[in-house]
Amino acid sequence: MNALDVIRTKRDRGELTDAQIRFFIDGYTAGRIPDEQTSALLMAIVFVGLTPRELATWTAAMIESGSRLDLSSLTRPTVDKHSTGGVGDKVSLPLCPLVAACGAAVPQLSGRGLGHTGGTLDKLEAIAGWRAKLTNEEALRILRDVGAVICAASDDLAPADRKLYALRDVTGTVESIPLIASSIMSKKIAEGTSALVLDIKTGGGAFLPPIELSRELARTMVGIGERNGVRTVALITDMEWPLGRTVGNGIEVEESIEVLAGGGPADLVEVTLAFAREMVALVGLDVDPADVLASGKAMDVWRSMIAAQGGDPDAPLPQANERELVRATARGTLQHLDARAVGNAVWRLGAGRARKEDPVSAAAGVRILVKPGEPVEVGQALLELLADDAARIPDALAALADAFVVSDALFVPRPLVHERISQ
Ligand code: URA
Repeated sequence: MNALDVIRTKRDRGELTDAQIRFFIDGYTAGRIPDEQTSALLMAIVFVGLTPRELATWTAAMIESGSRLDLSSLTRPTVDKHSTGGVGDKVSLPLCPLVAACGAAVPQLSGRGLGHTGGTLDKLEAIAGWRAKLTNEEALRILRDVGAVICAASDDLAPADRKLYALRDVTGTVESIPLIASSIMSKKIAEGTSALVLDIKTGGGAFLPPIELSRELARTMVGIGERNGVRTVALITDMEWPLGRTVGNGIEVEESIEVLAGGGPADLVEVTLAFAREMVALVGLDVDPADVLASGKAMDVWRSMIAAQGGDPDAPLPQANERELVRATARGTLQHLDARAVGNAVWRLGAGRARKEDPVSAAAGVRILVKPGEPVEVGQALLELLADDAARIPDALAALADAFVVSDALFVPRPLVHERISQ
């Protein structure tokens, strides 16, 4: 068997055998198959797809590329949440401590920014001293003591996904139902959670914007989860506009802390509570997350969770050196703020990576000063751009050239949660 035959088979719309899939995943993980051949196979999959059998084998091979976490020693029920990636989507940050404060254990193994979307680990690394990398023993101890841990998957947990994820980010091969579904579900199944709520983004800022594709992705992932013994529910949530009022690493942490303190933007609070309700229901806890959030207990868990990973919850977050305002040229109502354009601008400001080894800026980002539905005057500042380096601002401004629509038309709000999908 050789890699070239596998690539050609998929390119020519053939079906890969189980042995071919395992040969490729094992070979890439072990370094026997190089990035360029893997990129070619990934691109063929983007165009041709995988059959249900191929997807089941591909996902199983990714899980079996490493070890599984054993959470059976925990006394609390385990439940996790995972998002397909959005712009301003910092939901995991307030959600994990909130659900832990409700009585569950939340083992959240997270990723880095991908394409125009942000990554939970990149955000938390804006906190001085905070460490994403933990051993399995450390993660388990924090789960037992604090109830929630957000960390990088350890090196031996679905290592195939770690390599593939970084490669997809820089080869334009993110946008594929089987690749997204297998990437997320292999990590979640290997992490050992008993229940999972998926956040499937839909709209212009999602990797797969049309709702029909979001639905198909949701059904595919719920199916993989249930077949592997993980109770799985998906919410399809809106990503036409950015979530909350901040997009960037440090500033998203700041906004998450506002939510934990009982404030924060209404859309972010609503989505966070929608997920918290699904998660507690899935593991049979009879509590209202809104009451728990109001009690301040989620903030206490957040502080313990950050401190347990070496972070200083009281340390000031990094501030940008350069600022630029984007102003309205018309008066009326802000009808639309393009999530993908904002995500691309934030990426160009330095918060995302062009190459998989690039560092990200903790301070770069965009503050959304006016949200869709709010009134706008000519000359009013709509967005504030933040960067470490002024040279990055012109490119970010170019990304935002057609990002918003202001008019006198009747404003049509969009639902934050479109659909719920379960088996
Ligand atoms: N998140 C993941 O973990 N993998 C993807 O492919 C997309 C989003």
